Order: sequence, then C-alpha cells, then structure tokens
Amino acid sequence: MISNTNPPLRTVEWKDNRVRMIDQTKLPNEFVYVEYNDFNQVADAIRNLVVRGAPAIGVSGAFGLALASMQSDAETKDDLLVYLKKAHEILLETRPTAVNLKWGLDQIMKIAQQGENVEQIRTSVIEEAKRLAEEDVKINMSMGKFGSELFANNDTVMTHCNAGALATVGYGTALGVIRATRESGKNIKVIATETRPIQQGSRLTAFELKHDGIDVSLIPDTAVGYTMANNLVNKIVVGADRILRTGHVFNKIGTYQVATMAKQHNIPFYVAAPLSTFDLKSNPDEVIIEQRKASEVTGIGDKKTAPDDINVINPAFDMTPPELVSGIITEKGIAKAPFDDSIKKLFEAN
Ligand code: MRU
Repeated sequence: MISNTNPPLRTVEWKDNRVRMIDQTKLPNEFVYVEYNDFNQVADAIRNLVVRGAPAIGVSGAFGLALASMQSDAETKDDLLVYLKKAHEILLETRPTAVNLKWGLDQIMKIAQQGENVEQIRTSVIEEAKRLAEEDVKINMSMGKFGSELFANNDTVMTHCNAGALATVGYGTALGVIRATRESGKNIKVIATETRPIQQGSRLTAFELKHDGIDVSLIPDTAVGYTMANNLVNKIVVGADRILRTGHVFNKIGTYQVATMAKQHNIPFYVAAPLSTFDLKSNPDEVIIEQRKASEVTGIGDKKTAPDDINVINPAFDMTPPELVSGIITEKGIAKAPFDDSIKKLFEAN
C-alpha cells in the first residue's frame, strides 16, 4: 500500500553524465527510469511524452544540450556553438506550445556563448543545466508557499491534467500548491479530471497524489459540471504551458471548459506557474497550439474505440481568457486582474 513515506518523485536528473527520466508513458502500471546519452534521444523522449509538462521539458531540453556538448567532437568554440545551435533547433521543434522549452534551451546557449574554450563550455553548460533543475524545485516550493494562502482547511480542489512533480523536476506547480497547503497543516482533498486523450489526470496526477498520501478522487472529464453543480469543489488550481502578458493562459486541452464552468458556479479558478512560463511578447493568435495524432482519440491504449478513417481534431492545448482567471500564482507572488499591470510588476520585482 502506498503511503506518504514514499521518497519524493524526481522526474528528470543528471546522473553519471547521462540524463535519467521517469518513463511517464508507462505510468501508473510500471515505474521505470530511462537513461540517455544522446540529445536526439532526449528530443524523442520529449516528442513521445516520456517526459512532459512545461517545466520538465524546459529542464530536459537544457540537459539535452548538455549531452550535445559532450557528443560534439568540435575542437574550437565556434564549431561547438554551431553543433549546439543545431541541437537547440532539433530539441525546440519537438513541442511548440510550452514556452519553458525555449527558455531552458536559451539559458544554456547563453552560458555556452560566454565560455572561452570547448572544455570550459562543456563544464559550464552541464553545471548550468544541473542548476536549472535544482532551481525548478526551489521555485515550485516558493510558489507553493504563496499559493497555500489561497486555500482553506477542508477545501476540495479540482485540478486538470498533471501539473505535479511529474510535470516539473519535483514538487510541482499546481500540485506543489496543494502539497504546500497540506504541509501548512490544512486538510485538503483533490478531485482530478481524467484528462483525455492522454489521461495525464488518471495516469499521473492520481498516481503521484496517492504516492504522497494525498486524498484524491478521479472523475471523468464529463463530470466537471456535475461536481461543481453539486458543491463537491471549492477551488480549482491548474498549471500552464504559456501565459501571455495579458493573462491569457495556455494549458492542457479542456482547461478552458473547466474555467468556464467554474465561472458559471462562482468557484475561484487559479493558475500556478513559474515566471519561465510567461511569454511577454506574443499575442494570443501567435501561439501555436500543438495538434497531435488521431490515434490518441480513436483508441484507448491498444483498444480501438472509434470507426476506421474517422476525421479527428486533437489539439493538445487551449486558451483560457483572463476574465476567467482569479489569480496566477508564481514564485514571486500572486498576479490578479488587471493582469497586464500585476504581471509587469512581478517581472519588475524579479
Ligand atoms: O501535454 P503535456 O502533458 O505536456 O501537458 C502538460 C500540461 O498541460 C500541464 O498542465 C502544464 O505543462 C503545466 S505543468 C507544471
């Protein structure tokens, strides 16, 4: 039986000059690690959801570039930078919506450009990628402290998708807030949506909350309205893949439905995300929503659940407009409407 004495989950880490990840495609049936020594393998892992969740893919991208620096046989700084730029491109094109991936890759490129020679660049990019991983956990804990103030004893909180330890290096964003609330001594229950088609809610959120001994009930996505209408939920907290300066939130497909339904029932809808998830430049219509393969919708696992050759629309993310968002929890504090103003202030204070 799983209890809260289980060791904290560490989604991705640097180990003996390799990148080690929990293989999330196998959860909850098997808990296995995979190890990579080639940045192309890391790119495949991101593309195929072995690792997923905005902050986790940001750090994985950074580790991918650290591997690339070791793989290159460049003898000059310029040649190594050319190799790293190509690796950056390959890693970046794996998933288009979460901005943390570009952020992580850019952080490493900045350090690489500052290096003096090949050996020094290799050492410094590996150190920087490890630092980003450690920093991710600290940021999540800080976000958790701010966020826990918003939750009361005996709240039941709904979350969608997985914005937990498994979507970050550890601790989580939305689930980090839930963990911190519980660590502050409050009793808290969670309702997790199943999150079709990939089922991050049932496979990952339910798994990690049970692993930590947090009370969790699973619902089909279709029961969101029912649970709200029947007063089974007090608050909602989700993560984000990209947040614009206007407060528009891009997150897992279905988040917009949850937020709309929350407004209808007057339930606060919070988003928890680090500053690395903000894109202060783009407008809503410039953000690319990843479209995924039809087979994710026409079957569950290996079982076919739709007729052959059916047309499918399978967007991985949607956009929740700022008027549905009660607050955005970050490691620097909580932004509230008007978001243009409050988000700007968070960045100025950074
Ligand atoms: O397709 P995924 O599983 O990578 O989508 C993940 C999400 O949408 C999460 O909610 C988001 O990345 C926030 S993770 C802290």
